[in-house]
Amino acid sequence: MYRTHTCGELRLSNKDAQVTLAGWVQTVRKFGAITFIDMRDRYGITQLLFGEDLNAQLELNPLGREFVLQIKGKVSERSNKNKNLPTGDIEILVDEFKVLNKSAVPPFTITDETDGGDDLRMKYRYLDLRRNIIKKNLELRYAVNRSARNYLHENGFYDIETPFLIKSTPEGARDFVVPSRMNAGEFYALPQSPQTFKQLLMVSGYDRYYQIVKCFRDEDLRADRQPEFTQIDCEMAFVEQEDIINMFEGLAKRIFKDVKGIDYTDAIERMSWEDAMWNYGNDKPDIRFEMKIQNLKVQNENYFEALATTEFAVFKNAETVLAISIPNAAEYTRKQTDELTEWVKRPQIGMQGLAFVKVNADETYKSSFDKFFNEAQLKELASFCKAGKGDLILVLAGREERTRKAISELRLEMAKRFGLRKDNEFKLLWVLDFPLFEYDEEFNRWVARHHPFTSPKPGDIDAMINNNHAIEVAEKYLDHPYSKIKANAYDIVLNGNEIGGGSIRIYQRELQEKMFAALGMSKEEAQHKFGFLLGAFEYGAPPHGGIAFGFDRLCAILGGSESIRDFIAFPKNNSGRDVMLDAPSTIDDKQLEELSIKLKKV
Ligand code: AMO
Repeated sequence: MYRTHTCGELRLSNKDAQVTLAGWVQTVRKFGAITFIDMRDRYGITQLLFGEDLNAQLELNPLGREFVLQIKGKVSERSNKNKNLPTGDIEILVDEFKVLNKSAVPPFTITDETDGGDDLRMKYRYLDLRRNIIKKNLELRYAVNRSARNYLHENGFYDIETPFLIKSTPEGARDFVVPSRMNAGEFYALPQSPQTFKQLLMVSGYDRYYQIVKCFRDEDLRADRQPEFTQIDCEMAFVEQEDIINMFEGLAKRIFKDVKGIDYTDAIERMSWEDAMWNYGNDKPDIRFEMKIQNLKVQNENYFEALATTEFAVFKNAETVLAISIPNAAEYTRKQTDELTEWVKRPQIGMQGLAFVKVNADETYKSSFDKFFNEAQLKELASFCKAGKGDLILVLAGREERTRKAISELRLEMAKRFGLRKDNEFKLLWVLDFPLFEYDEEFNRWVARHHPFTSPKPGDIDAMINNNHAIEVAEKYLDHPYSKIKANAYDIVLNGNEIGGGSIRIYQRELQEKMFAALGMSKEEAQHKFGFLLGAFEYGAPPHGGIAFGFDRLCAILGGSESIRDFIAFPKNNSGRDVMLDAPSTIDDKQLEELSIKLKKV
């Protein structure tokens, strides 16, 4: 037997027990004739005491960090207790030991605060995974997984696997493709999600489906995006939006309870997409704090009257002028506002500058555009922005889309600086009533905002069926009835992160064909790409809808992190590489030959 107990298990109640433990050497400390070793495994750390009698043997078998060790000994009460360790009251008086395996000196310390940089940790991810901090993340991931499975099982969902080698139908992100040896010149694609399969399962009558499943998307990577990531993917038949919302609020609340011990009893807020954009500048607002955007001028329409006559060129020439009021921030110094100005000028934000108004404690005003606004106008502006004594108003001006995005980033940044984005506070939000289409000005065509299987709101179906005409001039798309059509779609947002999204689907062939046509697909192309789905819709497809949660994201947020990488055992880096495997990599000529592939010289 390799061990009788784990390294996290023994307590004072085990005093005098004879035990066998196995684990990794965390530290070796010599005090005169005796040696202390901290031995670690998945369960914890136990202190071992090697007495003088073992010195000769230790000299023959010197122990180093990460050696795999087995010891036999007696549990004893420590004179110098460590309150920070669950096993801190005891130590093992070692009688005998055996080195089960040696270790090279690890390239970084296996501790919470490691000296290893990102690349090094990823290269030796199997060592990184020994760190307690990462282990905790994987523990949390498994807890979320279990909680979701239990809830879905209790609610009658079947876990049904769907294939990974499918047909390439890029829509949204790019596909990862896989060459077929047996079908020279042809390719599979890895699924961006099991979307069409779960819909087919509804047609087949499996009216509650789920899968915790890998999805593959070849897109630009960020802290919250991986090329392969996991979804809790769900679909239900005979449901309306309200049914889905109720079922999956239940799932979210169950996960909070099981994983964090939080009773999320508050009703989950709902917000229309339009309100989210207007008040927060994006479709996934963090509603843990207010700080709403004040719309002074939007697409050349003045909502704050003084802007109609201002000579201040920055405001006068801008398409859109937006502000936020930061409570109790009027103390911000010149240096700090200068630094914030640099912050908004960074390429990621892309603004030309930042204007501000400070509302002093005596209700006088200090602004960066005093020359153009008198005291009365500043007072009016402050009142428009709902700013009171001691508040700081930040104003951005520019093109609509960029300015809205920038102010939403600035809002989050200021909230972070003022400690309003607390890791241990959680606020869920449903965002509803998304537009069905977006216009892609570059390719002069409509694209589906969610995906092409999303149904319009029932009241908008006629507008969709009857207005399938082209747009002559790209800028005129806002006049087209399609720009007003709302989708029967919903996103669930947690602390400013989109953790899930879904929709009620189209289930009639005619409407689905209209949708493909609206997206610029010819009948033949639609048949070639999605003939299987259109065909299935002819054989009794029930009304259905679903949702997918971003599993990695959900775990990261519950674990208090913005980066999903530390919640994935073997993640890719920001260039999509696995630095441990050194993948992707070239393949040899024989493999290429078998696949009938000839590479272009680059
Ligand atoms: P969607 O594309 O919105 O919907 O994806 C669902 C959720 O998956 C997460 N997510 C990601 N997580 C990590 N890395 C990525 N690259 C990544 N992309 C998306 C997000 C997102 O909310 N088939 C539909 C769902 C449906 O309609 O039922 C779908 O895939 O948290």
